[in-house]
Amino acid sequence: TEHIRKDLPLLDTRVLITAGPTYEAIDPVRFIGNHSSGKMGFALAHAFQQMGANVTLISGPSAELASPGINRINVRSAAEMHQACLEQFPTSDITVMSAAVADYTPIEVATEKIKKQDQTLHIALKKTTDILADLGIKKSANQILVGFALETTNEEFHAQEKLKRKNLDLIVLNSLNDAGAGFGGNTNKVTIFNRALEKKVFDVKSKTEVAADICREIISLL
Ligand code: CTP
Ligand code: CA
Repeated sequence: TEHIRKDLPLLDTRVLITAGPTYEAIDPVRFIGNHSSGKMGFALAHAFQQMGANVTLISGPSAELASPGINRINVRSAAEMHQACLEQFPTSDITVMSAAVADYTPIEVATEKIKKQDQTLHIALKKTTDILADLGIKKSANQILVGFALETTNEEFHAQEKLKRKNLDLIVLNSLNDAGAGFGGNTNKVTIFNRALEKKVFDVKSKTEVAADICREIISLL
């Protein structure tokens, strides 16, 4: 059994991953969304599964397929994702929030399709709950919480600020500025900060390899 422990360091460990975008309904046929493909989150789910973990994946709308054995929960809006996270988080040992959650959602959802009228249309939005920050408040001492940060300016400063403000154990900074990184593609470039604000810079890699790096960094915290 010694080799099993070594190959599967996360046996009996419960991991919660969020992935993909959220869709915020405007009316019955329209929504506000974003370009997240879900690839990073699904790659993380598979990486953790390969380490022996019991993986739950809460995903917004995504064309990605989860491999058998992953407990996939499909959600649509930020509010639905928040609800699903509140249900799953208490029993999760490691939680990685890689979803691109909408920051704002329409105050009201029109019950009928909005007809075109004037030259301009204003849709009033309200802030969504910051799911990660909420989990950071609810986190117990033996739970690990990891977030992502997507920035275009002062990226390291903002990532460190989010790590502290949301009470995270690690934050993964997505370097949008680098070629081959970001939404849609199959590669990513990340920098990871821990609570001591120690920084690890990784090369551009496939999202599968990036997921393995993130998984390894998290295991090193255990
Ligand atoms: N996040 C979340 N709930 C939200 C918004 C973001 O859980 N309503 C999480 C994301 O999943 C990510 C982290 O917070 O893990 C950082 O997301 P990001 O968009 O980079 O930062 P924000 O805190 O939303 O701030 P801003 O978009 O203004 O930079
Ligand atoms: Ca945001």
